[in-house]
Amino acid sequence: MPSSVSTTPPTRKVLDVLAGKRQAVPPVWMMRQAGRYLPEYRATREQAGSFLDLCYDPTLAAEVTFQPIRRFGFDAAILFSDILVVPHALGQTVRFTAGEGPQLEPVVTAENVSRYAGAFDKTKLAAVFEAVKLIRAGLPAETTFLGFCGAPWTVATYMVAGQGTPDQGPARLLAYRDPKTMQRLIDSLVEASITYLTEQFRCGVDAVQLFDTWGGILPPAEFDRWVINPAKRIVDGVRAQVPGARIIAFPRGAGTQLERFVDRVPVDAVGLDWTMDLEFARERIQSRVAVQGNLDPLLLVAGGDALDRGVDAVMEAFRDGPFIFNLGHGITPEAPVENVERMLARVRGR
Ligand code: CP3
Repeated sequence: MPSSVSTTPPTRKVLDVLAGKRQAVPPVWMMRQAGRYLPEYRATREQAGSFLDLCYDPTLAAEVTFQPIRRFGFDAAILFSDILVVPHALGQTVRFTAGEGPQLEPVVTAENVSRYAGAFDKTKLAAVFEAVKLIRAGLPAETTFLGFCGAPWTVATYMVAGQGTPDQGPARLLAYRDPKTMQRLIDSLVEASITYLTEQFRCGVDAVQLFDTWGGILPPAEFDRWVINPAKRIVDGVRAQVPGARIIAFPRGAGTQLERFVDRVPVDAVGLDWTMDLEFARERIQSRVAVQGNLDPLLLVAGGDALDRGVDAVMEAFRDGPFIFNLGHGITPEAPVENVERMLARVRGR
């Protein structure tokens, strides 16, 4: 006999928004919510050794994923990892040096790009999938669990330059000088991303976010080719294996090109960066798809009235439609924890 105890799972508000259902109090999480602004993150990071050691230790990666949930009760947890584990699994050397960010062995020629075709070895990411299972098992039932990967263009910018640069010029130049080589690299990354995200779903994530941090530096024709087309192939490819998979895209800096993006890529939500015009986003974007964003992360450093006004402006712009409160990019290490508390209290009306 079935038990009379109700087994209806509590709702996961972020998932409800991704299904197009507006919430009276919007769900909230922050990009880079597990990070250096948290003392407990810094302590675990110290214990792990290098940043990549932390990413590849399932217990510690799960621990830092839980930290911001325990402290703030965010509505979503995001897998702790990095977008650059994919080039690593394609066989590229990837290192993170303290203070300097990522360093990769740069890819510049047709020959070294061809070695990445079909080279994605998901067994190299076994520790990430193990972390996904541990996180799923340990999260509160009402917390939405987000996986992620970098979008092909953004990952390619690091693979080509071998590091972050102010305008990712090396990848843009390669795309102009030798589009066939860039296409081959993007194709390898599309294929790897489909396999990687599908496996994250199989191990327990509820939804995934595609980070295209460097999407907005491209002119329209390039944006279509390197941002829109790969995103569409990934969404279709993942949903062919995980029917109905919920997907958020974050093409940072897309500006008015975001309208074309949501017309062509059937995602469930788009992330807005903090430069986005609020009225444009409400009228032209939120009318089609749920939106997520877009408080300027520096307001969490500034605090005070400036922070309150920033939170109110975002809330007023988007609260009447499907909306997930977030930042317009990742939280910075300088942000005081008290300002995160202040932001949350205001969003939640307390
Ligand atoms: O959001 C989260 O809390 C989940 C974890 C996460 C990290 N990186 C952890 C991280 C996610 C989703 C990312 C995505 C990521 N990584 C992006 C896309 C989003 C964005 O922020 O633009 C990019 C471009 C990267 C590549 C990357 N990783 C860079 C350029 C750097 C160095 C810059 C920096 O902030 O130090 C990283 C390192 C990194 N990834 C850190 C964290 C917490 C800091 C490293 C440390 O702890 O020493």
